[in-house]
Amino acid sequence: MKVLITGGAGFIGSHVVRLFVNKYPNSQIYNLDKLTYAGNLANLSDIENKPNYTFIKGDIVDAGFINKLFEEHKFNAVIHLAAESHVDRSIADPLAFVFTNVIGTVNLLNAAKEQFKKDNASFKRFYHVSTDEVYGTLGDMGLFTETTAYDPHSPYSASKASSDHFVRAYFDTYKLPAVISNCSNNYGPYHFPEKLIPLCINNIKNNKPLPIYGKGENVRDWLFVEDHARAIDVIFHKAQDGSTYNIGGHNEWTNIDVIRLLCRIMDKKLNRAEGTNEKLITFVKDRAGHDLRYAIDSTKLQNELEWKPSLQFEEGLTKTVEWYLNNEEWLNNVTSGAYANYYEGQYVKR
Ligand code: NAD
Ligand code: DAU
Repeated sequence: MKVLITGGAGFIGSHVVRLFVNKYPNSQIYNLDKLTYAGNLANLSDIENKPNYTFIKGDIVDAGFINKLFEEHKFNAVIHLAAESHVDRSIADPLAFVFTNVIGTVNLLNAAKEQFKKDNASFKRFYHVSTDEVYGTLGDMGLFTETTAYDPHSPYSASKASSDHFVRAYFDTYKLPAVISNCSNNYGPYHFPEKLIPLCINNIKNNKPLPIYGKGENVRDWLFVEDHARAIDVIFHKAQDGSTYNIGGHNEWTNIDVIRLLCRIMDKKLNRAEGTNEKLITFVKDRAGHDLRYAIDSTKLQNELEWKPSLQFEEGLTKTVEWYLNNEEWLNNVTSGAYANYYEGQYVKR
């Protein structure tokens, strides 16, 4: 199998690339990434010299480049993760999200469709990695299932919803063998420190304020990133063409409770007196259009494909904190130098 993984230098993509390169030595894994501020080849330094791994720098928005790439390599499958992924950035610059998330996805679909048309048997799978945010927001009760109606609220989730619709349209219209998964919030190593958990880990480390939007009452359903990568592996290999799976941790937390737990874990790890880090919590202006609650029902995935999350949240969060504290160089590199302009939040216009 020649598998093209897009966005493999990003947070989740790097875990998926690592898993596939190590687990499937007889498959050739191609990682296509533009290396935006969120893409970092240091995320993959442990596997970069493996014989079944190839990195390709490129932009999925460039249709000519994508078509040539498919003609040259004749990939047997695509796992598509490349995206603009941060909601706050999408509020400041929606078009960047339309280009990469919508047009980039359609460019990949077109190239895969052409190859599938020429040789049906050789193209096995177009796997589109999506988000629970396409379903909008929940009240106090209920869970998102695979049949929940789409109701996106941010430019990010609108662009991901649009890309999901295109993937389904290519399955229905051209029979392109496509699958989609919609996952809840991930956390773990290599998470870019603009997102809530790694931002707060870095700020606690540096004794900086922990910005909590609104009252911190919004709820997210957190999943350890390696569990997401395992789910992608199972779905990639076992799902039926045209199917959708929700992936989530059954692990709902209000933002304020997540950050309080993080503060307690880091009090211990940094040998600070209990309660020290909590004093850094600072309530700030809410995110515009801030979805109140996400929660995933992953029963279909658990029952049909026998996947389940492996880690309890406190254990996963402790592992994550340890990783950041042991990888200071990675953290310093992504928060300084070339990345500083992005990291320091020139985009933050909530
Ligand atoms: P990320 O921002 O960490 O990584 C995105 C990667 O895509 C980066 O390496 C970046 O360089 C690359 N990229 C961006 N634009 C590109 C372009 N035009 N051409 C080629 N490469 C480009 O994102 P992530 O958090 O790892 O998310 C990966 C995917 O998973 C996204 O599709 C996202 O919507 C989805 N998702 C994320 C989460 C989460 O909690 N982070 C949850 C569910 C689904
Ligand atoms: O649900 C899946 C989605 O999770 C993915 O599709 C997105 O790519 C990913 O970025 C994530 O989106 P969120 O907006 O939920 O993640 P973020 O880490 O930005 O925010 C988590 C919660 O914390 C959210 O309610 C907003 C809040 N928040 C975030 C930041 C960055 C704060 O209170 N303060 C902050 O500084």
